[in-house]
Amino acid sequence: MSDARRRVAILGGGQLGTMLAEALFDLDADVSLYDPHADAPARRRVPDVVTGRWDDRAALGRFLARADVVTYEFEHIETRWLRDVLAALPSPPPVWPSLDVLDTLRCRLAEKTFLRDAGLPHVAFAHARGRAELDAVAHAFGYPFLMKTSRGGYDGKGQFLIRGDEALEVACGTLETSIGPDFEVVLEDPLPLEAEASAIVIRDPSGATTHFPVFENTHAAGVLDVTLVPARLPEEVNRVIASLAEETARRLDVVGLLSVEFFVTRTPGSRRGGHVVSTINGGRHVYVNELAPRPHNSGHVTRRACSVSQFDALARVLVGLPAPTPRLLGTDAYCMANLLGDVWLAQGRSALDLRALDAHPELLEVVLYGKEGAKARRKMGHLVTLGASPEAARDAALAARRSLARPFGG
Ligand SMILES: Nc1ncnc2c1ncn2[C@@H]1O[C@H](COP(=O)(O)OP(=O)(O)OP(=O)(O)O)[C@@H](O)[C@H]1O
Ligand SMILES: [Mg+2]
Repeated sequence: MSDARRRVAILGGGQLGTMLAEALFDLDADVSLYDPHADAPARRRVPDVVTGRWDDRAALGRFLARADVVTYEFEHIETRWLRDVLAALPSPPPVWPSLDVLDTLRCRLAEKTFLRDAGLPHVAFAHARGRAELDAVAHAFGYPFLMKTSRGGYDGKGQFLIRGDEALEVACGTLETSIGPDFEVVLEDPLPLEAEASAIVIRDPSGATTHFPVFENTHAAGVLDVTLVPARLPEEVNRVIASLAEETARRLDVVGLLSVEFFVTRTPGSRRGGHVVSTINGGRHVYVNELAPRPHNSGHVTRRACSVSQFDALARVLVGLPAPTPRLLGTDAYCMANLLGDVWLAQGRSALDLRALDAHPELLEVVLYGKEGAKARRKMGHLVTLGASPEAARDAALAARRSLARPFGG
């Protein structure tokens, strides 16, 4: 390795890229970010943010040519352009996790197919392209099902619960208008969830693989709401989750972070075929829901709960250090609660007034991402609290959040 500082290029200048950049600065790395939006949150904290379109190959080429290693903070990037741009560079930097991993994980169908082929537990699914094929596939799959667009979905966007012909008709109309007649969807068995969990794996180029403690997640209307650590799941379930997450990272040959979302149920899904279910003593079943080759919203809790945060861990791998082994700090519990645009809308202000937080001593951090324009359900910040138990940490986080979501001056 040369003795110069490493320059890490991050594609995307949202909150994940920004917090990763801060962790990289702590390791004395140089960091540049690329984002199409002139008001990307990273602009407020990182000096070197390039504004450019994803399809501007010249701008991307100049940006990537400066890098020793490249990573990304979100999956919805056209990898074809990146491959072209990198191939044209005299000495292209490595992309971690690789573009092959990104190709698999940015497409829901490719992701599900990978899980099936790898024999990893996953929800029964079918897929279809366009209305005619969907009608036939829906008929064979049977109602009800969850229908998810194969590309571009996040925070529950592009998802429909389909209970019958009429709902299917309406959803098809929406997809034809928003995507076009060739829309591609994945149909999924809706599971009766006992709990949701996530595990974040760290893997370095030597193949050394470690993981964070398992988190327990609650979603509201398809958007992550709160994350608890330690998860209130039997130790054996946590062990299965952690080992499935590590195995998934190895199968994909991830270098960097792999965030793995899990469903936990007490009854298996109703559909036969396609399922590979991991059954654990006590009759619980664990399924991999989806994968992200990057830091994860649930992992924000690690900024306070763990000896290294998810951002520190990725930063270490990116600068060439071995995968660290994160530890939960102390014997307490921690809760991360998302602050969605709804909180700003409730206050009726564009700059959130934080005075109400003074009354919440369990609060360890509040991070506002610096996004312009509060919208309902838009992730705008988060807070993390400490408690003697997961319930106590969660109650403290919910109370702190409620105290913010009041009309200003009210
Ligand atoms: N098959 C299913 N059975 C039961 N609940 C589901 C199922 N699929 C999705 N959900 C619920 O919807 C949430 C969002 O689904 P999913 O993770 O597929 O969406 P996403 O929009 O890609 O979300 P993300 O923001 O995590 O990328 C899940 O966390 C879960 O609460
Ligand atoms: Mg998800």
